[in-house]
Amino acid sequence: MVSSDFGADFQWGVSSAAFQIEGACTTDGRSPSIWDTFTARKGKIKNGDHARTACDFYQRYAGDIDLIQEMNIPNFRFSLSWPRIMPQGTGKVNQPGIDFYNRVIDACLARGITPWITLYHWDLPQGLQDRGGWTNRDVVGWLEDYAACAATRFGDRVRHWMVLNEPAVFTGAGYFFGVHAPGLTGLRNFFPAAHHATLAMGRIGRVLRSALPQAMVGTTFSCSSVHPLRNRERDIQAAIRADALINRMFIEPILGLGYPVADLKALQGIEAYMQPNDEKELPFTFDFIGLQNYTREVVRHAWIVPYLRARLVPPRNRGIALTTQMGWEVYPQAIYEMISKFSAYTNVPRIYITENGAAFPDEVADGRVHDPLRQQYLEANLAQVLRARQEGLNVHGYFAWTLTDNFEWAEGYFPRFGLVHVNAETQQRIIKDSGRWYAGFLRS
Ligand code: FCB
Repeated sequence: MVSSDFGADFQWGVSSAAFQIEGACTTDGRSPSIWDTFTARKGKIKNGDHARTACDFYQRYAGDIDLIQEMNIPNFRFSLSWPRIMPQGTGKVNQPGIDFYNRVIDACLARGITPWITLYHWDLPQGLQDRGGWTNRDVVGWLEDYAACAATRFGDRVRHWMVLNEPAVFTGAGYFFGVHAPGLTGLRNFFPAAHHATLAMGRIGRVLRSALPQAMVGTTFSCSSVHPLRNRERDIQAAIRADALINRMFIEPILGLGYPVADLKALQGIEAYMQPNDEKELPFTFDFIGLQNYTREVVRHAWIVPYLRARLVPPRNRGIALTTQMGWEVYPQAIYEMISKFSAYTNVPRIYITENGAAFPDEVADGRVHDPLRQQYLEANLAQVLRARQEGLNVHGYFAWTLTDNFEWAEGYFPRFGLVHVNAETQQRIIKDSGRWYAGFLRS
């Protein structure tokens, strides 16, 4: 397999997110985000880790973008920190925040790297959470303001935009399970947060498209193929419900299909948050959809689990020996299955894989990091993307997660996802063997 097998116009890249790498949380007028608040709470993050320095990307961006260039990666996806740009969440713009992203964008362009911007990768300004955050319908308007500001400031040089990163994860983990910021729980938080996130995608899509008619406007979704544990009716039905929640709930309203209530009755509860015009406002034709896939899920019927009546069966209970540091099964066919599933929708002009990668415990030996498992993971996943491509499915790009080992949310610095190793004490960077392999592959 060589990269030219994917065709000359296939987009190759690497992805990152502001809060996971930047550090400088109180520098140059940045206000706290919900993730600063959440990491400061006892017991919320593994090892009590925090992201006050993270990878120090705020200072080291130029060197890190040099590494992207060194690895022959033509596209860099990063997110903007909302509280750096608008510390109160709305209104006044913080010029040093704008200046920082201008430097990042210009550093990319100077090296022939195309910047791709995600507007919202989970770091909501805390001031907006104090007003209800995603549970408050006003969040859509707040995000419109911020998006319009970013479009005006950066749209002259940035053509590729993504509205949200993985709405299912930030609303599910943050507003239902409470394991991510802001740590809220229950359906009375999840339903409004989820509906407002869904509404925001189209609304912000429209803001970007009218401000930047030449732009490519997208948004990203987490996805995992869902398989029933056993080939029996109850597990099959459980898999259908879990699939509706994990893969369909956020994209289908955008495609004009509404929430998948027929397959997951509990979603009826979200209708209480719909207003008369919403049905018309939800659909929006994005230029591209970003899919982010890491693994598959296996589910079984479980009457004891409320609403869903289904339970994930973890890999260790299925005799799976090889998992990543996240406890995720290595199952490369999942990415093919997801491309295939999302290609079947009409109204999805193009799919890009905007994240895919794996965390393994790396060690530095003689200045090198030998990480064969990560390289194998990437190769096996890419082989599945190529298979999809050769079958004529609608996939046009692949972005590896991620450039540098970084702050992996509630898991802290334990999982290492980077193509580049980072020593947290010294901030020294070493391109791992997998990064060297990716560099060579992109030349092929
Ligand atoms: C995704 C997130 C990303 C990173 C990877 C491992 O859900 O978008 O920030 O945490 O998982």
